[in-house]
Amino acid sequence: QAKLKASILEINRTAARFFYHTLYTPSGAAGLQYFHSRGLSDQTIKRFGLGFAPDSWDSLARYLRSKGYSPEEAQMADLLIPRRSGGHYDKFRNRVIFPIIDLRGNVIGFGGRVLDDTKPKYINTSDTMVYKKTMNLFAMNLAKNAKNGFLILAEGYMDVIAMHQAGFGNAVAALGTALTPQQARLMARYVPEVIVAGDADEAGVKAAARDIGILRDAGLKVRLLNLPDGKDPDEFIRRNGPERFQLLVEGAEGDVAYRLQVVKNRFDLTTPEGNVGYLEEAVKVLATIDNALECEIYAGRLAQELSVSRDTLLGQVRDQRRKNSRILKRQQFREIQKQTAGYTD
Ligand code: CTP
Ligand code: MN
Ligand code: MN
Ligand code: MN
Ligand code: MN
Repeated sequence: QAKLKASILEINRTAARFFYHTLYTPSGAAGLQYFHSRGLSDQTIKRFGLGFAPDSWDSLARYLRSKGYSPEEAQMADLLIPRRSGGHYDKFRNRVIFPIIDLRGNVIGFGGRVLDDTKPKYINTSDTMVYKKTMNLFAMNLAKNAKNGFLILAEGYMDVIAMHQAGFGNAVAALGTALTPQQARLMARYVPEVIVAGDADEAGVKAAARDIGILRDAGLKVRLLNLPDGKDPDEFIRRNGPERFQLLVEGAEGDVAYRLQVVKNRFDLTTPEGNVGYLEEAVKVLATIDNALECEIYAGRLAQELSVSRDTLLGQVRDQRRKNSRILKRQQFREIQKQTAGYTD
């Protein structure tokens, strides 16, 4: 088992070297040109060990064989795929390559992007003996040494790389999945705070809302980066430069302010009904804040904004909390009922 894992890691490292070197050969010129066209320097390419998988069915397969690795081993690394007719072919073809590296510096997997807008845009290593996508974060090996006291959580490979190149060495990304509690706990081992920098599109905003809860549950303070419509951090930096991005980072609001804003946007505040609706929903947000001081501060702000008394508002928050804990207890009760069903007699 341990030996098998070691040999998968060795194959991954060999493949990563192959992909990287290919960039600087004629069969990788398209990949190098692609990275350059997206504004990446050769230094950044080297730092992340980016690469290119040639437009061929078996260039990696042949290379690995020449280095003495069996196709079966390479298949366990999810680099080669068996053909029904026998033999194997390369999983990554005609794609730029993003190696995924763990905290110890092992190459544990890869992402690969097409050079145009063919679908799927990215393919990734499936889980293997050395790679569990829910347990790792892209670029955490680099970001863990950044001493800012917070991490920036983006959606994509290119966002992270663009941020690092722009001087934000504390950027990481989940790997093509929704953020998991394990990934949040991994971050919490290194920093007390995370700034969520998701894409400014519908999917990104939804994902950010989910991430807030997962990060909070891991004990992290959460702030949210407010990117203008439709952009992701990579596009923003390309268009506006690192200084403007720095301003966004500094201006990132706490999750409570963010959630209150999201709620507020849903109501027409020129009508009394709209104000009542906003207030009711805002109370629900406040009722989820565990920190009493934090809760009071936001309640005070809201009371002022809507010209109601702070004490009335806090009373409503307490009522809502009681309601929540009743709901929670009912849910827990049903859970216990379910779990013990069959044992009752
Ligand atoms: N992703 C994936 N598989 C896909 C699409 C996306 O694994 N078919 C993951 C990748 O890690 C990607 C991230 O989700 O980086 C965010 O997706 P998206 O915003 O669509 O792509 P970008 O990262 O913005 O990619 P690019 O800028 O290269 O278009
Ligand atoms: Mn160059
Ligand atoms: Mn996206
Ligand atoms: Mn992008
Ligand atoms: Mn994106």
